[in-house]
Amino acid sequence: MPEFLSTLSVQRRPQPLALMEAIVDHVVVHLASALDQECLKPLGMATGRTMEPFYGALIQRLAAWPSSRLERLKRCWLSFNLDEYVGLSPGDSRSFAAYMHAQLGCHLDLSPGQLQLPDGTAKDPAEEARRYGSALHQAGGIGLQLLGLGGNGHVGFNEPPSPAGSRCRVVTLQQATRIQNAGAFGGNPDEVPEQAITLGLEEILAADEIHLIVTGAAKAEILRQALLEPCSAEVPASWLQHHSCVHLWVDDAACAHLPLLS
Ligand code: GLP
Repeated sequence: MPEFLSTLSVQRRPQPLALMEAIVDHVVVHLASALDQECLKPLGMATGRTMEPFYGALIQRLAAWPSSRLERLKRCWLSFNLDEYVGLSPGDSRSFAAYMHAQLGCHLDLSPGQLQLPDGTAKDPAEEARRYGSALHQAGGIGLQLLGLGGNGHVGFNEPPSPAGSRCRVVTLQQATRIQNAGAFGGNPDEVPEQAITLGLEEILAADEIHLIVTGAAKAEILRQALLEPCSAEVPASWLQHHSCVHLWVDDAACAHLPLLS
């Protein structure tokens, strides 16, 4: 068995909803213990359709917390999202900032300063990418990082090819990604912005723990490549093999090509 697989923690559930409940179990234990020890590091947040039921389940679970603890969490919350489209403002319902406000921020009364994303409307996107990377660094880096997986192997918007040392930057989206994300743009890939600002692999791999969440048969083959093939810039998620604390969360359909798990 490759060394990486022996350190990989795998949680598998038949269906996405049961999987999200299991991830939420882990995340709320993390949040509670970090609050108790007063050492809550910035959280790394992901967007995408995969993540939507996660945020719903998280909000529900937190609603059952004693109000004093929940208030403390709201006061201490600081998260950094992976990415944002260039050209979209937080007021644009298709932006990731709007997604995060709708999925999480409005339920927890988080201010924009607590829910950090790159500014898609910055006049100089390259400078904004540098600013965002440095803001994350100054905040101490990510503690717990949530990650989805793109159909082409991207994490965040680190499109192929992305080296392990890539940092927060402006990227051009592949047509496959614009097609994959067209749903939020009336189904028209041409409406999906051509560029985005994304944290790089370097910032992602610097997180204390990484949670890769993959559901659905369409991701089964790229997930196999990411975990079982040698690391390569062509499958950016494969660089996760360099991290010593990766948790993989999969439903049955997504691990159909993983012989050791299926
Ligand atoms: C998007 C985001 C990623 C996300 C991935 C999967 O484009 N930039 O952060 O994890 O692609 O998206 P989905 O869950 O919609 O398949």
